[in-house]
Amino acid sequence: MNEQQILTPKFPHVLHGADYYPEQWLKHPDILQRDLELMQKAHINCVSLGVFAWSALEPQEGIYHFDWMEKVIDDLYQAGVYTILATPSGARPAWMAQKYPEVLRVSNDLRRNTFGGRHNHCYTSPIYREQTRRMDTELARRFGRHPGVILWHLSNEYGGECFCPLCREAFRKWLKQRYGSLEALNDAWYTSFWSHTYTDWSQIDPPLRTGEGRLHALNLDWKRFVTHQTVDFCRMEAETVQSIVPELPVTTNMIGFKSNLNYSKFHDELNVIGWDSYPVWHKSDADDLEEAQQAAFTHDFMRSLKHQPFLLMESTPSTANWMDVSKQKRPGMHMLASMQAVAHGSNSVEYFQWRQSRGGCEKFHSAVVDHYGGEDTRVFREVAEVGKRLKKLEELGLCSSINRPRAAVIFDWENRWAVEDAQGPRRCGIKYMETVASFHKAFWELGIPVDVVDMEADLSGYRLIAAPMLYLCRAGIQEKLKQFVRGGGTLVGTYHSGVVDESDLCYLGGTPGGMTDLFGLRIEEIDALYDGQANRMLLTGTHRPPLKAEYPVSELCEVVRCTSAKVLAEYGEDFYRGCPALTVNDYGQGRAYYLAARTDYALTRDLIAAAAAEAGVKPCLCAEFPHGVIAVKRDGTPNLIFVSNFNPCAVTVPLNAEYQDAESGQLLSGKLPLSAYEVRILTDSNSSN
Ligand code: GLA
Ligand code: ZN
Repeated sequence: MNEQQILTPKFPHVLHGADYYPEQWLKHPDILQRDLELMQKAHINCVSLGVFAWSALEPQEGIYHFDWMEKVIDDLYQAGVYTILATPSGARPAWMAQKYPEVLRVSNDLRRNTFGGRHNHCYTSPIYREQTRRMDTELARRFGRHPGVILWHLSNEYGGECFCPLCREAFRKWLKQRYGSLEALNDAWYTSFWSHTYTDWSQIDPPLRTGEGRLHALNLDWKRFVTHQTVDFCRMEAETVQSIVPELPVTTNMIGFKSNLNYSKFHDELNVIGWDSYPVWHKSDADDLEEAQQAAFTHDFMRSLKHQPFLLMESTPSTANWMDVSKQKRPGMHMLASMQAVAHGSNSVEYFQWRQSRGGCEKFHSAVVDHYGGEDTRVFREVAEVGKRLKKLEELGLCSSINRPRAAVIFDWENRWAVEDAQGPRRCGIKYMETVASFHKAFWELGIPVDVVDMEADLSGYRLIAAPMLYLCRAGIQEKLKQFVRGGGTLVGTYHSGVVDESDLCYLGGTPGGMTDLFGLRIEEIDALYDGQANRMLLTGTHRPPLKAEYPVSELCEVVRCTSAKVLAEYGEDFYRGCPALTVNDYGQGRAYYLAARTDYALTRDLIAAAAAEAGVKPCLCAEFPHGVIAVKRDGTPNLIFVSNFNPCAVTVPLNAEYQDAESGQLLSGKLPLSAYEVRILTDSNSSN
């Protein structure tokens, strides 16, 4: 087994687990006892313990109550259930907030929060750091070497920001380190605009509600700083526990693209990436493709953070109470959503939560065991089935497989911050995330394995890269892309690229900055259209399938002047009618496509299909895909190809090659029938793609 594919050496298995809150049930030993029996029946092999248990572990400052936790860990271990031990820093006890108000967050109107909620703490506060370090140390000493403890779960969903005096001072210090001098900062931030020039570091404040909000470079640096400070807090927790138990890996639970943090920066601090996935299923009667795509996009991003298997740390067994409508997962959807995570590289399926809480705001959030308390429920049965299937997949070699795509989509968090903050060219919807997601969707629907990487990534292993809306360029991305294409790679770039540098300063001398030679063109104007207005893109010459003769264009249209690029399509309307809308440029051994206008998804899909065929990047299943059927591959011996039906009805997939059903051994050729929400896992003859 490849070391890299193991989540934790102490328990090298596929994890099937849940957040477990025994502190809510300490007065009910019968229930805790029953949990052990039910966990075995549900094929649960691990739990996350202690996520919000600080006040149960330390009811008064320095008075530790760890015995209850020891008994729980012991009992679980005896029952064959391993513990992922959480540090409780996601919520602090009332006594701490009362005694040390500095641990509480200050909002951007400079008001300090009172006690309450969770994630309501300052990541800079030396007192909060000290309290956390002390608690983490005690936990590590007491439980870190317990044979049942397999992994650290640091805090919970790190996130948010604090504007307290300590954070503001730390921001200034961080800026000093970043820029060295005030002059360099003033230049980078372009403070000559609107008389913003700073003459003393103490004049600088974060973007406060009552203060500066339109200095985009400041906004960007504040966001970078908040990530930096949070990563620093996370590192402090990791170092604390690993200084005592170096062999135990650390993870934390992320929340996908909803976060205010740049998750790419957590890469070095975590041994394992974990995330909490909560798609809102069944919004449409037709199918669940939109939610499934969003989940797939995030799974691919999470896996790509370390190019290793990740943890599906939380998912709901059925509904989540915070959704506008708490719709139950339809029979089969739980298996489908769980297998989807595994297909994309998760080596676990875990739940929030094991047992439904009796009170508090999450009492209606679903759980493996609900208020009824028994195993004879649909949700329990479906959870147990997932557990059984994961065991089977482990036997089939899941733990020695991982996704190794030859294609990538660039998503860059700093670029996202910059492009979304900019005023223009379309303040009513610049749609960066939607655009990146639509490129990911093209790969996903075509069955082409794809990574989601940022500008700091090493691009050398890919054959095809889609880089939509590369507005802010950093980390030498232009040079890396040139090297990639020069070496024979195929690049698909789009409008609104190469506009600003890392400091949000516009490139002078022609856009896309630093890439005019790569794409063989220069952008002269970018026109924005109102909602409902349209243009057309007409393919020139004889178009090559799958590209079609015409596509609709909306929202953003660049007026392009080609130097060496060949024109593949032109605009059909307006003063730029006849101007290039889609081009391709030979560069070194490779080719760089440039899409100058926002089109419908059909063009994105057809363009990616054409570019992939040219680049020799193949779909992972040789088949015709009916609507709603998705194939995802984990590379291994054998390759495991997950074929999922996101339709609420049965479909048949016409196969163009022979496969074997990995679980039943059945040979498949011709047709693959899939019932509603069914996932089948196939093996191929290991032909390398
Ligand atoms: C988050 C949290 C959990 C719980 C779930 C509910 O992911 O980490 O503690 O609140 O949401 O869906
Ligand atoms: Zn603070």
